[in-house]
Amino acid sequence: MGTSIVPPPQESFSHDLVGLRQRIDQRLAALLPVPGGESDLIGAAMVAAALSPGKRVRPMLLVLAARELGAPERSALDLGCALEMVHAASLVLDDMPCMDDARLRRGEPTIHVRYGQDVAVLAVVGLLSQAFKVVALAPGLPPAVRPRLVALLGDAVGEQGLVRGQFEDLHAGCGPREASEVTGTNQLKTGALFGAALEMAALAASASESVLAALRDMAMELGQAFQLYDDLCDGEPDADPGKDQGKDTGKATLVALLGAEAARHRLRQHVQRVENLLEAVYGPESGLLYLLGTLFPRVG
Ligand code: IPE
Ligand code: IPE
Ligand code: MG
Ligand code: MG
Ligand code: MG
Repeated sequence: MGTSIVPPPQESFSHDLVGLRQRIDQRLAALLPVPGGESDLIGAAMVAAALSPGKRVRPMLLVLAARELGAPERSALDLGCALEMVHAASLVLDDMPCMDDARLRRGEPTIHVRYGQDVAVLAVVGLLSQAFKVVALAPGLPPAVRPRLVALLGDAVGEQGLVRGQFEDLHAGCGPREASEVTGTNQLKTGALFGAALEMAALAASASESVLAALRDMAMELGQAFQLYDDLCDGEPDADPGKDQGKDTGKATLVALLGAEAARHRLRQHVQRVENLLEAVYGPESGLLYLLGTLFPRVG
């Protein structure tokens, strides 16, 4: 008789995340246009922006959060891919000369450097349009949930969400600012997509109002932690060799306002709150808790 070896939970979570990441990339590729030859620069730029090797944090979060609440993975996978398309579009814009003027993203030249600014802007429109289409057609969802998901994504991306946060970051980011104002901007420019990930997960799983409220709180804490970590890394030359560093010089980030040590302390507090909320909703043994443990390697 063979002996079955049950892997310890950490190992099985890690294995699960690797498999999930592969399924996300496969589905993302299937939902993007197949570039129609050398002249199809828009299709090529959309694919390059979305499939380049990012961390895929938002779709992983969405799929794990939805699956562990009982939603079918195939529904969550499509919603996660839509969110990743929006995220990729936001990075293409963020890197353009009129915004952060960055030349390197995910280890490759930025989209406008490779394809030109005209193609970059049109690829952004293409990615956003495709994202809404994917949500509208996502399989296995109750009909009443679908319009709510589309509206939710619209709110997260639009002029009250990510777009407003990015505007505030660019227009107020270099003047004198209170920490609370910067927190508000980070909530919009980064927290909005984390909010969309977790709220979409709750809707896809028809979760209760109390779970939805806990996931909203969790997304706020995670969005703050994520941007704080990104800002801390911007000041460390070797933190992310795949993108331009030092882009925040002269900017009123929380790291600039409070100092790196206080920023690290805040980051740990946000992560602790995410952990508490996660445990309250999902219990002490969830893939989400494991994912959280991988997100901030440089602060311990
Ligand atoms: C970068 O996001 C932009 C921020 C909101 C800080 P990620 O750190 O998730 O970027 P990728 O997707 O891994 O490239
Ligand atoms: C970007 O913040 C947030 C977006 C909504 C795109 P950053 O400008 O700090 O992101 P990176 O450092 O370029 O990835
Ligand atoms: Mg920026
Ligand atoms: Mg930037
Ligand atoms: Mg940054």
